[in-house]
Amino acid sequence: MPLYGNIPVSGAKNAALKLMCAALLSDRSIYFENAPNALRDIQSQTDLMQFLGCAIKREGSLMAINASNVENTVAPYDLVRKMRTSILVLGPLLARFGHAKVSLPGGCAIGTRPVDLHIKGLEEMGATITLEEGYINAQAPAEGLQGAKILFPKVSVGATENLMMAATLAKGETVLANAAREPEIIDLGECLIKMGAKISGLGTETIRIEGVSSPLGKAHHEILPDRIEAGTYIIAAGMTGGTVRLENARIEHLSAALGHLSQAGIEVEQDGRDIIVHRDPSRRIKGCDIMTEPYPGFPTDLQAQFMSMLTIAQGAGLVTETIFENRFMHVPELCRMGADITVQGNSAIVRGVEKLKGAEVMATDLRASVALVLAGLVAEGDTIVNRIYHLERGYENIVGKLSNAGAQIERIGGE
Ligand code: UD1
Repeated sequence: MPLYGNIPVSGAKNAALKLMCAALLSDRSIYFENAPNALRDIQSQTDLMQFLGCAIKREGSLMAINASNVENTVAPYDLVRKMRTSILVLGPLLARFGHAKVSLPGGCAIGTRPVDLHIKGLEEMGATITLEEGYINAQAPAEGLQGAKILFPKVSVGATENLMMAATLAKGETVLANAAREPEIIDLGECLIKMGAKISGLGTETIRIEGVSSPLGKAHHEILPDRIEAGTYIIAAGMTGGTVRLENARIEHLSAALGHLSQAGIEVEQDGRDIIVHRDPSRRIKGCDIMTEPYPGFPTDLQAQFMSMLTIAQGAGLVTETIFENRFMHVPELCRMGADITVQGNSAIVRGVEKLKGAEVMATDLRASVALVLAGLVAEGDTIVNRIYHLERGYENIVGKLSNAGAQIERIGGE
């Protein structure tokens, strides 16, 4: 059934989680607007930060964090295992308190996802790091972390953010070369600057941070809109056909996907603060090829959703995943719904079929789950998506948002 109506886009999960970690660098209150407070990941991060001693208030889409009373610098396995991003408390805790012990993280099962770049960078800033019983044990020199020139052998969002935060309180200048350029990193950097950090080069491959004497100060910050959530709903409307207005979303953050969407037959345009998506329901989606790359390339976090769309395209499409080695777990589930997909190494050939058929499916990571929901929107008959735990980590009120736009979707069972 075609989608029509308005869908509000929430604040970016992948910015909000790091912004919360940034609050650890300050002994004053940090206020956030447009926080995606209903997400499970935000709850997990809140639990961890409160365990460390932060005071956190969340109401509607507002959040306030005060880390002035933090005394504990140990992030235990129980709180960290749910979410890989917990590793991002390591840099801020170490920079502000001189020591930190963080359990090696869990998170989505989409590959081995090591944290060696985070650790190596902190060592280059003078930290002594040992791995003991599943924990990263880090100690800064007595005079604090030292600025350093760090060249990443590989572009990493998390390592760029962890080291950028750590460097705000280090002695002297830190240069991060081959840094990641994601909009969420720019958002984090802009908030750090409001808190008193000295950072230049955000959004480029080289970020420079001049350390200031600790700790950072207060700030008010509006979190940028979630480009992956917006991209997901663009694909939803593209798959079903119809016209949808995505409230508070920025097309420029999806520039790598726009060409592919237009090739597929989906019209997308910015209208003030909103994005309007249109696809003529009488015409089929057309197949096209995508390859994931670090920003500004095609986002790996939209790969599963795009593949879901290609399953019903006219013609075939080649999907190549270059960021994570094990990010095709949605493939067997989509095939159970009648999709025709062949995986070869890190590529998948998707041959479009006329109709998917509803089935009971299960998702093992966040974006894979939503790809199955999208497939369910266009499949004949009922689709039951199990383990929506993952879905609720990253999509606020997805059932309400989609059903308001005309989708037949309901949450059944569970808490
Ligand atoms: C972030 C996003 C995630 C997104 C990913 C890539 C958050 C909370 N998560 O994850 O949604 O899919 O960026 O856009 O923002 N790597 C190493 N060593 C390291 C760190 C990373 O080898 O120390 C590798 C990873 O295994 C992966 C690649 O580098 O192959 C990129 O990972 P990275 O950019 O660090 O992803 P995350 O920050 O974990």
